[in-house]
Amino acid sequence: MSGGASFSHFSRRDGELYIEQVALNALANQFGTPCYVYSAAVLRDNFDAYSRALQGRDHLICYAVKACSNIAILQLLARRGAGFDIVSVGELERVLLAGGDPAKVVFSGVAKTASEMRRALDVGIHCFNVESAAELEVLAEVAAAAGQRAAVSLRVNPDVDAGTHPYISTGLKENKFGVAIEQAEAIYQRAAALPSIEVVGVDCHIGSQLTDATPLLDALERLLALVDRLDELGIPLQHIDLGGGLGVRYRDEQPPTADAYLSQVLQRLEGRPQRLVLEPGRSIVANSAVLLTETIYLKQSGDKHFAIVDAAMNDMLRPSLYQAWMALENTSASDAPERLYDVVGPVCETGDWLAKERPLRLRSGDRLAMFSAGAYGFTMASNYNSRTRAAEILVDGEQVQLIRERETLADLTRGEHLLDSV
Ligand code: LLP
Repeated sequence: MSGGASFSHFSRRDGELYIEQVALNALANQFGTPCYVYSAAVLRDNFDAYSRALQGRDHLICYAVKACSNIAILQLLARRGAGFDIVSVGELERVLLAGGDPAKVVFSGVAKTASEMRRALDVGIHCFNVESAAELEVLAEVAAAAGQRAAVSLRVNPDVDAGTHPYISTGLKENKFGVAIEQAEAIYQRAAALPSIEVVGVDCHIGSQLTDATPLLDALERLLALVDRLDELGIPLQHIDLGGGLGVRYRDEQPPTADAYLSQVLQRLEGRPQRLVLEPGRSIVANSAVLLTETIYLKQSGDKHFAIVDAAMNDMLRPSLYQAWMALENTSASDAPERLYDVVGPVCETGDWLAKERPLRLRSGDRLAMFSAGAYGFTMASNYNSRTRAAEILVDGEQVQLIRERETLADLTRGEHLLDSV
């Protein structure tokens, strides 16, 4: 990547890095750093790739809100017909604020509380992705008390190895998610017998950043075998939800395109009446955004060169948490000598780094763009070290919109109280 941006809708003009028609340096001057900058064109392209691939097949694309939950981005996707996969009532309220259709919402997560269930029933979500027998019982009670029937899909754990980072692999027996596929039939039978529950589907999500479709297709085979067994038991299902998980290119990975992946899925679904539901997150948003940061100091320690920048692990946790490699480039051409830099932030932790041993030409004051920052970037940000969270900006062609203001120092202590005087 040091040769120049090769992510679509990012380009170099006279050495300056652009997102769509706007120079990133101009945005850094206007809004300050660190900030996340998203491309509307990439978001549309990525969502449309899913839609196009599923044309002619009954389907619902439920964008996984956890990947990037800014309400303007949810709004953009909702306008293109997206449904949403949520994991908390907080995400549900975001979807509603963004004008998302509650009838296209699926609610995942291992620990839904009764009050979250009540709110979701109240607004009429599409279905609850139930993750345990205990959750099913609570949901049945909550729905009965509200005089409603809750639509339910059981999240099964197909026990396939997604072959990805252990922290983002979810489909193995040892993971906390879903119910073991061998237990599923018994739980479905119980669900079918509960008057306040309507069984509508089955779902799984085996992991994230999958660069090979094989585990996803293996999971689908196991789901289909379960669907057949349930049919025989007189429990027909209306939909099959394959979750998210399709990987993206951060460096040199070559994940299948949505089209290539889905054509294989559709082949296996041929002749089946069920609607296909998907929950993509990363593959819609990751490559839509950069995290812009400014170099504060350059520092040499022995043979080691550090670029100390104004973004930190509290802004972008992926490198610290998963040792993730994310592309970094100077936003301007530079004649500074090329050195191997560790790019680190201001947070007081050795684990606070954004990149290691990257060839860069840098002077203090230079801005760096970290690519592929749209997924699990801002949503995993925190206020650690009492740092304000970054601004978020959406670019659409030549248009620029601030979609989240940078937090202020006053925001940092909002809701805190000094001790009553004694
Ligand atoms: N559905 C469910 C039930 C999920 O748990 C997830 C992600 C998705 C859908 C969306 O998966 P995607 O299409 O984005 O792979 N923070 C990590 C990723 C955690 C993924 C959690 N679940 C990272 O930065 O790599």
